[in-house]
Amino acid sequence: MYKAPRGTADILPAEQRHWHYVEERAVALARRHGYQRIDTPVFEVAGLFVRTVGQETDIVQKEMYTFEDRGGEEMTLRPEGTAPVCRAYLEHGMHNLPQPVRLYYFCPVFRYERPQSGRYRQHHQFGVEALGDADPAVDAEVIGMAWGLMQDLGLRDLSLLVNSIGDSACRPAYLDRLREYYAPRLEALCPDCRARHQRNPLRLLDCKRESCQPYALEAPRSADHLCPECQEHWQSLLGHLEILGIPYRQDHRLVRGLDYYTRTVFEVHPQEEGGQSTICGGGRYDGLIQELGGPPTPGIGFATGMERMVLNLQRQGVAVPAEAPRPIAIAHMGPAGQREAIRLARRLRSAGLTVVVTPAARSLKAQMRHASAMGAAVTLILGEEEIRKAEVTLRDMDAGRQESVPVEGLEARLAECTPRPQ
Ligand code: HAM
Repeated sequence: MYKAPRGTADILPAEQRHWHYVEERAVALARRHGYQRIDTPVFEVAGLFVRTVGQETDIVQKEMYTFEDRGGEEMTLRPEGTAPVCRAYLEHGMHNLPQPVRLYYFCPVFRYERPQSGRYRQHHQFGVEALGDADPAVDAEVIGMAWGLMQDLGLRDLSLLVNSIGDSACRPAYLDRLREYYAPRLEALCPDCRARHQRNPLRLLDCKRESCQPYALEAPRSADHLCPECQEHWQSLLGHLEILGIPYRQDHRLVRGLDYYTRTVFEVHPQEEGGQSTICGGGRYDGLIQELGGPPTPGIGFATGMERMVLNLQRQGVAVPAEAPRPIAIAHMGPAGQREAIRLARRLRSAGLTVVVTPAARSLKAQMRHASAMGAAVTLILGEEEIRKAEVTLRDMDAGRQESVPVEGLEARLAECTPRPQ
């Protein structure tokens, strides 16, 4: 028997209501803020991600699905959505549009990670990117959207963490401070941290091992080592967040796992679980487009994991609207009844109603059981008698009442029996 590949999941009909709920809220939020949808290919030339996400990151080192295509070119299944959007911005000359260009996307993302609850090898992201404006007000807009989405979904007990990790002017000196700080403590750190000490010391701050945490807590803070421009940007952003009433917390250990970030970084976590189960992450990436060969172009965005939003909605028992209205079932007897049922179903569907015809060659009783199992609000019964009188027997499945109703004008009568959500 074949099974879904490890780390992937089927999204079954019963779960679709949660997915659609998140999608609808996310699209509405994006539109309210003037963001337009973009879709990019599932795979890109591998170098796009190596250059931007960074050689030293877990994503590039061990998680990318990279393959040589039949033309001999190295391709990678998208391990994140920001680099492809920036590639598209450049490729389609979007710098000629009014800036910032505000874009949103839904896309599958592929990372060869160790699967566990909420961590998949194929997951799905909703993301937004605002390209071409360095103003801290745009950072606040984007952070406000991430937080606003969680509110719109009805998720509770979340923390919003923010930090500034500086830029190419101030970060090198800060990284040296960090290396110096950690150098005499290396013996006490985990092998991963020791390996990263020289090449990627920032990541020592977000090591999840308990034994490494006390050292990260005491480590020098990037926000204390910003150049005047980054400091001004950071203070201005915090001011905007205050004005917007967004309840953020500064966390100097928040550094993110992708190398393209500059200045602002942020994440949303469930309060009791912390960084392992981040729902949403993002930040500013003012050097990314230049890295792709474009003109200096600032950018900021975030992405949220659809699976993690759905997981938290389910855990918190957030009420989600029913996926589809309860159907109207049509039960029928005899060949003439079936023909009539098919015709009536077509007519009612063109009036916008949800209709299922129960399977033929079953007794009326079995058809009624089927209708009930389908969650039908109403069943219409068509037998020889009804056909002769141009009527249907209309059964209210909840009340167990039935009555004869003329076929003519049936739509209006059915609209009265408003199907209740399941
Ligand atoms: P990221 O933090 O790597 O950022 O991923 C964003 C979100 O995707 C995470 O917060 C998490 O909810 C979800 N996610 C990541 N990996 C998995 C996984 N293996 N299984 C399930 N969910 C996962 C980025 O990808 C950046 N491109 C975000 C961004 C946009 N930064 C600026 N603009």
